[in-house]
Amino acid sequence: MEVPVQMDSSKPAKAVKDVVEAAAEKVAGVLTPDVPGAPGSAPPTVEEPTTPHDPLPPKAEQGAPETRTPTGAKTGAPTTANGQQGAFLTTSQGARLRDTDHSLKAGPRGPILLQDHHFREKITHFDHERIPERVVHARGAGAHGLFTAYGTAEKVTKAGFLKKGRETEVFVRFSTVLGSRGSADTVRDTRGFATKFYTDEGTFDLVANNMPVFFIQDAIKFPDIIHAAKPHPDREIPQAQSAHDTFWDFVSLHTEAQHHTMWNMSDRGIPRSYRTMEGFGVHTFRLVNAAGETVLVKFHWKPKLGVHSLTWEEAQLLGGIDPDFHRRDLYDAIEAGAYPEWELGIQVFPDTPEETFAGIDLLDPTKIVPEELAPVQPIGRLTLNRTPTNFFAETEQVAFHLGHLPPGIDVTNDPLLQGRLFSYVDTQLTRLGGPNFSQIPINRPHAPVNDMLRDGFHQHAVHAGVAPYRPNSLDGGNPFPAGDDENAFVDVPVTVAEAPKVRANPVSFDDHYSQVRLFWLSMSPVEKEHIIRAYTFELGKCYHQAIKERQLQSLANIDPVLCAEIATGLGLPAPQPTVPLADVPPSPALSQVGREWPSDGRMVGIVVDPDADLDGVGQVRRAVFAAGMVPLLIAPHGGLVGDLPVQRTFATGRSVEFDVLLLAGASAPAPDAIPAREATAGAADSAAVDPRVLLMVEECWRHAKAIGAWGGGVTVLERAGVAGTPGVVTGDSGAEVFTAVQRLLAAHRVWERFPASVA
Ligand code: HEM
Repeated sequence: MEVPVQMDSSKPAKAVKDVVEAAAEKVAGVLTPDVPGAPGSAPPTVEEPTTPHDPLPPKAEQGAPETRTPTGAKTGAPTTANGQQGAFLTTSQGARLRDTDHSLKAGPRGPILLQDHHFREKITHFDHERIPERVVHARGAGAHGLFTAYGTAEKVTKAGFLKKGRETEVFVRFSTVLGSRGSADTVRDTRGFATKFYTDEGTFDLVANNMPVFFIQDAIKFPDIIHAAKPHPDREIPQAQSAHDTFWDFVSLHTEAQHHTMWNMSDRGIPRSYRTMEGFGVHTFRLVNAAGETVLVKFHWKPKLGVHSLTWEEAQLLGGIDPDFHRRDLYDAIEAGAYPEWELGIQVFPDTPEETFAGIDLLDPTKIVPEELAPVQPIGRLTLNRTPTNFFAETEQVAFHLGHLPPGIDVTNDPLLQGRLFSYVDTQLTRLGGPNFSQIPINRPHAPVNDMLRDGFHQHAVHAGVAPYRPNSLDGGNPFPAGDDENAFVDVPVTVAEAPKVRANPVSFDDHYSQVRLFWLSMSPVEKEHIIRAYTFELGKCYHQAIKERQLQSLANIDPVLCAEIATGLGLPAPQPTVPLADVPPSPALSQVGREWPSDGRMVGIVVDPDADLDGVGQVRRAVFAAGMVPLLIAPHGGLVGDLPVQRTFATGRSVEFDVLLLAGASAPAPDAIPAREATAGAADSAAVDPRVLLMVEECWRHAKAIGAWGGGVTVLERAGVAGTPGVVTGDSGAEVFTAVQRLLAAHRVWERFPASVA
């Protein structure tokens, strides 16, 4: 790269500095990342900045909670006013500081003085930076967005935010359940999908999962299932996994857990992205309209990109290569403008005294109602369009609770839901350090708050008045209960049947197998194959044969073929069923294979040979951006190839980061490749092609991803032995190949490449 050299001979030192700065600027200009993910809203300079200026603005895609008072009033201040202000370093009290690198000592070699208030403040605050992580769902990622109602729910609920065209700010937090806060994203687990709707009638929290059923039917067992699924209490392993004895001990003893367990063993347990997950409210809720009429409903989120999952090998590799894969994917997609979208839908059931539909008990959270029996009716659209500005302030401090309900939405007697109504606020008292967590900016309602709750740790509000009790006359009677026509939340007066006080479940809760079989029968052969492999892997990781045998018994009660395949893998005999196999029709809506979806925000890996068709690569790169996807150039070295910026080298890139792979050249071994070692280890002859590129091709092929090549890239396909196989396309130009690959991507994977041993 040429940098103009204009030396001023009278000031040689300054002249050299100018030249270096000009060079740095040019490089920075050329290499300013145009793919998402770079930290900071402006590229840094090589030299330490020394001129005071106000904090840089957040990145363009970052959002923050609206500036509201603790009691819900708009302040009109910009959201940046919530953060640090001014150009100079200060104490927490705003006094400017001139040195934060040296503690105040009795001489340069002496002890630190107790009077060093700055040292004490800095260290003390640091010492208390951590708060307890969530007892479950500790690992998560959040985003801001907007919910727009279609108005289609107006007949069944009076909730204002569901009126036609109404737009409501939301914050969504996705999570895994089992792992600690720093655990990997791609583990096999249920995912949380919790949405806070800041409605002007009070906050509504829809605290959902990506699976429509739960392990247990009664909340009193929640500590048991979680203790069983979390790491063993003695060695604290394994982290964020269900492949261990205590989990399988529990689910094989509590056969009501079998349905949720099969969802976990299916591809739903390893989503490709938060953006490709469905969400389910699980429980049945009760909606009430302005006339006081009620219906029962189940909430569903349907992703615009369709349900799409990783393969188990991808998930495992990503656990090491990019443990933040889902988090990164969410933030990068928003930054790239590929805003994640879902439709909110409801299944609607008549509110009958039996609370059943088509013979299915609507209060049993281990049961679904197949969509073929009760279609999901869309009622609005969710778009996530801003990433958080500060992870802790927003994603970590957000507090969801099923009891956050606006008028028009009420709960049912589902015994799991009833327990959850107690648990969330209770846990947040500890996690967020007191009872005032709804005053934390991310939790502040967007409706006027007049709750008469007072004092407590971290009280942000400054309440006026002398009579925080009712009735009162000293504050003029304020606050007043809302009358019938003043849109109060009304607890629907549901009749509770006369019954003895018992610790018992309804008899209908005893069916633990019919719907697991329904799920199994609804899967395509390739999905069934994945389920078999998942069970075999997980049970194979258990030490105790008794637990495997007990779980095989449950599998026999679900399906003999399923049981036999897994038993073979475990080297154990397959037991006979102990209950009659349920005669259930499949629900095709449960399968994620066989449809086509948009490919917004997907990652396209492009292997570049610096000596090959760089113009073609440039064109493809532009086409990928134009298609709403993100191109990642993978080259033998970093920096630039021609004038194209490189995002991954052969050393830093790995196939699992990409949804499709394009090969633009033959990519000879890079200087840091060790072909001899690869050959000794039995890899294909890689003399002419970098072995890491061959590995990428092999992995993409194994994971049923579309692969495209042109020019010298075709040689790579031949060397990898995959040329001419399904989903591997070649062509005369990059543009032609990319178009073909894009079509393949719509189906998510080249499904026919997966073997399936069961029909
Ligand atoms: C249908 C069943 C359930 C679903 C869908 C569900 C979903 C969730 C989700 C999504 C979160 C994460 C919230 C966040 O992102 O901050 C969460 C957290 C939590 N859940 Fe559940 N959960 C279920 C059952 C239960 C039950 C039965 C209990 C207890 C009786 C429970 C207790 C908790 C607790 C204590 C947290 C941590 C909350 C916090 O610290 O903010 N959950 N749950």
